[in-house]
Formats: sequence, C-alpha cells, structure tokens
Amino acid sequence: MNILTFQTQDALNQAGAGIITALLQTNPNARLGLATGGTPVGIYEELVRAYQAGTVSFQNASSFNLDEYIGLERTHEASYYTFMQQHLFSQIDIAPERCHIPNGKADDLDAECLRYEKLLEDSGQIDLQLLGIGHNGHIGFNEPDGTLTRGTHVVQLREQTREANARFFDTPDQVPTQAITMGVGTILKAKMILLVVRGRDKAEIVKQALQGPITTECPASLLQTHPHVVVLLDQEAGSLLV
Ligand code: F6R
Repeated sequence: MNILTFQTQDALNQAGAGIITALLQTNPNARLGLATGGTPVGIYEELVRAYQAGTVSFQNASSFNLDEYIGLERTHEASYYTFMQQHLFSQIDIAPERCHIPNGKADDLDAECLRYEKLLEDSGQIDLQLLGIGHNGHIGFNEPDGTLTRGTHVVQLREQTREANARFFDTPDQVPTQAITMGVGTILKAKMILLVVRGRDKAEIVKQALQGPITTECPASLLQTHPHVVVLLDQEAGSLLV
C-alpha cells in the first residue's frame, strides 16, 4: 500500500487526476471504476481540465460506477447517474454507452444486481477503481457487518450513512434507505485501487482501515489484502497515522 499525503487539496486533486490521466495515456481502453460523493469532485474537475487542455481522451475508455440509490429516478438531482453526468460525463468525450451505473429503479432488483455483476465479469478486469470511504469504514455502500457480500447486491443503508449523505438532498427523510452496490469482492478484483480521503472527520477511520485489524466490521480494512492500493490523503485525514 502506497500512502501519499498532500499539503493542499489542489495537490491531492492533481495527483489523483494525474494517475488516471497517465493510465488513459498508456491504455486508452482503460476500464475505470468510479465513485460519487464529495471526495472525488475535485479530481473530476482536474480530469475535465486535462481533457479540455487536450492532455487526455476518454473516447475509448469505459466506466463502471460503484453504486446507486434504490428508488430515485435517474433524473433526480441526487441520483448518482445525475452526479456523474454533472461532474464528469457531460464534460468529457466518453461514449455514453460505455458509462455503466446500476439501475436503482429496476423492477427486479436482484436481477439488476446479477446483470451488473455479469456485465463487470464480461467486460474484463477494472484497471483502476476509485474509492472514497464512509465514516464507518464503508467502501461502495458495503456497510460494516459480521459478514460481507462478495458481488453486487442490494444493501440497507445505515442511519449514519444516510445522515452523512443528507447534504445532497432537500430534506434528510428524502435520502433513500437502500442502494445497489458492488460487493467488496467485486471491488477487490480491480487491478489497482485508488483510495482518496479528505478531512479531520475521516482521520480515525483512515487509521483503522489502513493500520488496524482486517475485519468486515471495517470494510475498507480489506483493502490491506490488495496488492496494488494507492492512498491519497490530505494532512487532516492522515493526521492519526503512525
Ligand atoms: C460513493 C461511495 C461511498 C463514498 C463514501 C464517502 O460512490 O461509494 O463509499 O465514497 O460514502 O463519501 P464522501 O466522499 O461524500 O465523504
């Protein structure tokens, strides 16, 4: 695990975008695993800048998002579909048909999970999986538990997770109670994992995930078992590491 700590958000964003840009320059067909939430926004902004500057093209890339809320229309302002359109896809040259996000409005959610997992299997190994982390150690929406589900599945969101995400909704009660998420097994299949964490409020979970015991009660700690993880932290998020 390669842990890099940055003095400024700009430096962190440039490093994150630089890793993705370098991957696309060497492998234009790269399969990107993408995340939503506050953490990757600055990296997506840098990627858009790199695209506009002609440094990188996404023309032959494909993307697979980690998760999506259940019950929101794609067009809902807080859906992850809309998030990805706003922050990245509408501003770069990626082919819409190669941007994949689970369908949280599917009539048969179990069938949708199987479809997404099969799509991932058939598409080949994800080259780079971008991840944030929840305050409770979740990655994707894999919440702490006695056991973890390997593949894409429906998950019940913890209240803590709903509260943290309420900032993206008009009122807290609008935050869905369920989501579809890639499983930890799915995530760990990626060739490389890029974990990004910002802020003092994540310092404790960063310490647990990176230096604590490997346990399903902190799903991000399973990343310690992956051979190629790069962690980008701001100083606050890394402040408790020894
Ligand atoms: C997002 C995702 C989540 C977030 C995590 C952190 O697709 O799967 O695991 O990465 O909840 O969210 P932020 O970045 O908003 O703190």
